[in-house]
Amino acid sequence: MDLHPNLSVIVAASENGVIGRNGELPWRLSGDLRLFKKITMGHHLVMGRKTYESIGRLLPGRTTVILTGNRDYQIDGARMAHSLEEVSRIIANDTQPFVVGGAELYRQILPVAKRLFLTRVHAEIFGDAFFEFDPTKWQLVSEEFFPANTSNEFAFTWQEFERNYQQM
Ligand SMILES: NC(=O)c1ccc[n+]([C@@H]2O[C@H](COP(=O)([O-])OP(=O)(O)OC[C@H]3O[C@@H](n4cnc5c(N)ncnc54)[C@H](OP(=O)(O)O)[C@@H]3O)[C@@H](O)[C@H]2O)c1
Repeated sequence: MDLHPNLSVIVAASENGVIGRNGELPWRLSGDLRLFKKITMGHHLVMGRKTYESIGRLLPGRTTVILTGNRDYQIDGARMAHSLEEVSRIIANDTQPFVVGGAELYRQILPVAKRLFLTRVHAEIFGDAFFEFDPTKWQLVSEEFFPANTSNEFAFTWQEFERNYQQM
């Protein structure tokens, strides 16, 4: 189903596709978090229940939408959704809603996303949650390299892709 005409996925993945370990992010990249904050500010953040619990709080200035199958699960200040159809209704009036993880959400939503913001973390990381995408289905529209430093544990490249309709 088409969830939103301008649905964006945003994810940070290592060279070997790892996005998480033991329910957490396996790196410390302040520069990437700053870019994430800047681009998502004012928009809806759609996340799986496990990702919400990993973050452990609502991110200010954005509307958090938590997907869960558990109808008793409630978080004050967030919107709950129990299906992708409900997500679609909640984000309908946003100009650019973001799906922010985790692995289970990306697998379901990437096929209908229009834009992909991928932070490629330049390291081989051990982990248990993964992100995979088919580069032939996406066109790179911009990228910027950031070196490792005291606040970024690894070098990373911030990449923006648009769906490549010619390859569909
Ligand atoms: N590197 C990154 O950019 C990034 C971003 C986000 C997360 N992560 C990492 O990813 C890992 C978590 O990912 P994950 O795959 O384990 O979990 P997840 O995708 O965050 O959450 C999965 C949960 O979402 C709910 N859900 C998923 N699809 C649903 C649907 N269609 N309808 C209703 N509910 C649905 C279910 O909740 P219930 O069990 O409550 O029913 C499911 O157990 C963590 O390690 C986290 O740190 C990394």
